[in-house]
Amino acid sequence: MNKQAIEAVIFDLDGVLADTAHFHFLAWRELAQTQGIDFDETFNECLKGVDRMASLELILRQSSRNYTHEEKQVLANKKNQHYQQLTATMTPADLLPGAREALEAVRSAGLKTGLASVSKNAFFILERLEIRDCFDDVVDAALLTHTKPHPEIFLTAANHLGIDPSACIGVEDSLAGITSIKAAGMFALGIGSANVLTDADLVIPDLRHFLLNDYAVN
Ligand code: BG6
Ligand code: MG
Repeated sequence: MNKQAIEAVIFDLDGVLADTAHFHFLAWRELAQTQGIDFDETFNECLKGVDRMASLELILRQSSRNYTHEEKQVLANKKNQHYQQLTATMTPADLLPGAREALEAVRSAGLKTGLASVSKNAFFILERLEIRDCFDDVVDAALLTHTKPHPEIFLTAANHLGIDPSACIGVEDSLAGITSIKAAGMFALGIGSANVLTDADLVIPDLRHFLLNDYAVN
């Protein structure tokens, strides 16, 4: 493996910088239960990093009945209202351990920072956490054609930052996100368990273990 200078770090938001992945889980589980669909943490792993409507499709696929487009819109809006209630009172204290330090380390090393979240609530969460100014670029999920695991979001972030993907680290807690980073040709840093994020180049339990020197791009 050749060591290549890293010039940018592109972070996912939910489950990487803030524990919002848990709020998405709670909101989806309640919605699934109203439809008589079983929902647990294992199934939830497949939804992480996947956008709202695609997540809903995966959940409803387990139901014996069919849903119209209008019914799906109503359910997606309900889930989102619940999620927004759960996140409404977040503050900077809700940043995950090591998140602020990791962002500061990247910036003080003179590297660029990007945010690649498919969440349409990302700008709101960044404001609540007061970290919008920590990023040179935040991809607007509303402008994307594809959700993760497609590489579009990470390639868009690298493009906005003006950095070649091979000089970027992508940081992700989801299976779909790791696939997206690898397909974009970046070093994939997984946050969580190596048993789950099997395709990551390196997995650390959380951002307290983030060390810029550890990374090389294939
Ligand atoms: C991702 C989460 O970041 O955003 C998913 O991992 C979530 O769980 C997706 O479904 C879309 O979020 P939102 O806020 O647009 O419904
Ligand atoms: Mg995530």
